[in-house]
Amino acid sequence: MLDRLKIAARFLKFYWRAKTKYRVHSPFVFQFVEAVLEDDRTFYVFREAEILRGELLNSNDSIEVEDFGAGSHVSGLKKVRKVREIAASALSPAFQCAWLFRLVQFSKPLSIIELGTSLGVSTLYLTEGSPRQAQVLTLEGSKTIADLARRNFDWYYDTFLKIGLKRNNPDILDFSSYEKNIKTDFEKNKIQILVGTFDQTLQKALNQVKKLDFAFIDGNHRREPTLAYFNQCLAYAHEGTVLVFDDIHWSEDMESAWATIQSHPSVRLTIDLFWCGIVFFRHENKEKEHFSLIKAEWKPFSWGFWA
Ligand SMILES: C[S@@+](CC[C@H](N)C(=O)[O-])C[C@H]1O[C@@H](n2cnc3c(N)ncnc32)[C@H](O)[C@@H]1O
Repeated sequence: MLDRLKIAARFLKFYWRAKTKYRVHSPFVFQFVEAVLEDDRTFYVFREAEILRGELLNSNDSIEVEDFGAGSHVSGLKKVRKVREIAASALSPAFQCAWLFRLVQFSKPLSIIELGTSLGVSTLYLTEGSPRQAQVLTLEGSKTIADLARRNFDWYYDTFLKIGLKRNNPDILDFSSYEKNIKTDFEKNKIQILVGTFDQTLQKALNQVKKLDFAFIDGNHRREPTLAYFNQCLAYAHEGTVLVFDDIHWSEDMESAWATIQSHPSVRLTIDLFWCGIVFFRHENKEKEHFSLIKAEWKPFSWGFWA
């Protein structure tokens, strides 16, 4: 309860300082707001991935998972969890996944690393938003959860997309030749799951991509590991790299990690969307800049005298 009150207080603080597009003067940040926050278009993946989420939320299955504990420490313990509980508590909600999709569409990364696959819903959004030739490496500590994510990817690419294809093309009666050309195998092969703790897998993933374009850090939300992942990613980052840190206001520990990341000399621009923080290394930003941004309709009076 106390934690919820603290998060609510942090949100109010964020809300007070957050700017809408009407108050953003940087052309790059304005483009970002238009493309990521304000674009309300729905893409096919949104609907299909949300059907998958619905199935997971209604699932009666239970799986035995490795326990990462409150701070995601690997305790070696296993516990039985209902799939629907994991779906309800661990997955990024639909509107955040939509922002992730638009952010990868905006930044066009060819290499994506996700720390924290869980059931794979955010991975689908990241994959579908990225260019066709992109590779997506997603890291998960629990083998049983990773197995389920793999099953979800198969399901999505082998079933949903074909159903969608048929629904959207009622005139085509014979799909056998059409399906050979369908992009599903190609898209599915874009995703690779690396199983193990982030300490074991992040370096492998970075060695594999060699040059990191985009990372979504969505697991083990504690200060020291978060900073360690940031530093590891930094060694493979370049001017166009985008790093997204989830849950930056989740705890004082995470707020402190976020402040340290913002003050790093290589970081030129940061955007705080409350649920996540986005880091850019753009050399064009001669002066370091930090923005807290909110969709205009969430702060309707902001085009007046207010920020
Ligand atoms: C918040 S969930 C990821 C949610 C997913 N990105 C989404 O939005 O759909 C975090 C995941 O990271 C995994 N995880 C947490 N700490 C880890 C660690 N130290 N090493 C490997 N995996 C870890 C957990 O098992 C969990 O599945």
